[in-house]
Amino acid sequence: MKDGNISDRFQDKVAFVTGAGSGIGRAIASRLVAEGARVAGVDINADALANVAELLGPNFVPMTADVTDEREVAETVKTTASELGGMDLAFHVAGAARNDRIVDLQEDDWNFTIDLVQKAVFLCTKHVARVMREHAWPGSIVNVASVNSRMPMIGGSAYATGKAGVEMFTRNAALELAEDAIRVNAVLPGLVDTPLVSSVLRDESLVRAYLERIPLGFPATPELIAGPCLYLASEDAAYITGAALTVDGGWTTTGYPNFQRQSE
Ligand SMILES: NC(=O)c1ccc[n+]([C@@H]2O[C@H](COP(=O)([O-])OP(=O)(O)OC[C@H]3O[C@@H](n4cnc5c(N)ncnc54)[C@H](O)[C@@H]3O)[C@@H](O)[C@H]2O)c1
Repeated sequence: MKDGNISDRFQDKVAFVTGAGSGIGRAIASRLVAEGARVAGVDINADALANVAELLGPNFVPMTADVTDEREVAETVKTTASELGGMDLAFHVAGAARNDRIVDLQEDDWNFTIDLVQKAVFLCTKHVARVMREHAWPGSIVNVASVNSRMPMIGGSAYATGKAGVEMFTRNAALELAEDAIRVNAVLPGLVDTPLVSSVLRDESLVRAYLERIPLGFPATPELIAGPCLYLASEDAAYITGAALTVDGGWTTTGYPNFQRQSE
């Protein structure tokens, strides 16, 4: 073991991480490199990837690609396997949304969100699994969904629908890919302090409204989501597949009136 809870459990493993230029994907990539892996970091934002590459050194290989484009996904996966020597782990993290109320939501915005949140997870899983099964050793895929997989959000119909689809896709993939010794699991984060939600976190009254619903009382850092993602990818989770791990500071336990407080 190195310092803290950093180990060498991913020594010599090759990992594919989408959304690696920012937030949760970046935190996953840096923890993987710290624990011995070589990482193909995929993102549509080349500048963001270049910054991460400078920080993480030669074990992080930046690969600019749009994960909603099958040709680009297939090429990036192929390059990862040939340049880094295979593919053991994949983390499908890239995401964003164009939100609006259903009655105002434009078809293009629905398509953008569903393509990125849901279709991209299918495309990446398809091409990653093709490579993993060639190697005939255990592989592991972790899909980052959201508490919105199970919790609707005003203005977020496309995002929540897409994320719900990721949870079911994960179970379907786990069922199909078990025969190839590939485990597939999902992580459902709650509120995480990343650029994706920076406008929310700048609004004090919104932050108060969120924190009232989060029993642990603070938003997650990206690192607090990366840890559970790496756990699911690790040997400690060798018998876990098709699972969805909620990582939300207890957010989804709330919503029921507090009778105790009312009778005090
Ligand atoms: N931040 C939160 O509160 C939160 C909560 C639940 C789930 N999530 C999910 O976590 C994942 C990561 O989000 P984050 O908060 O780290 O956001 P982020 O904005 O910090 O990072 C997302 C990354 O995805 C990349 N990306 C966007 N479109 C892409 C495309 N077409 N191809 C390749 N890369 C693309 C972006 O360039 C960016 O670097 C997303 O799937 C998001 O839905 C986030």
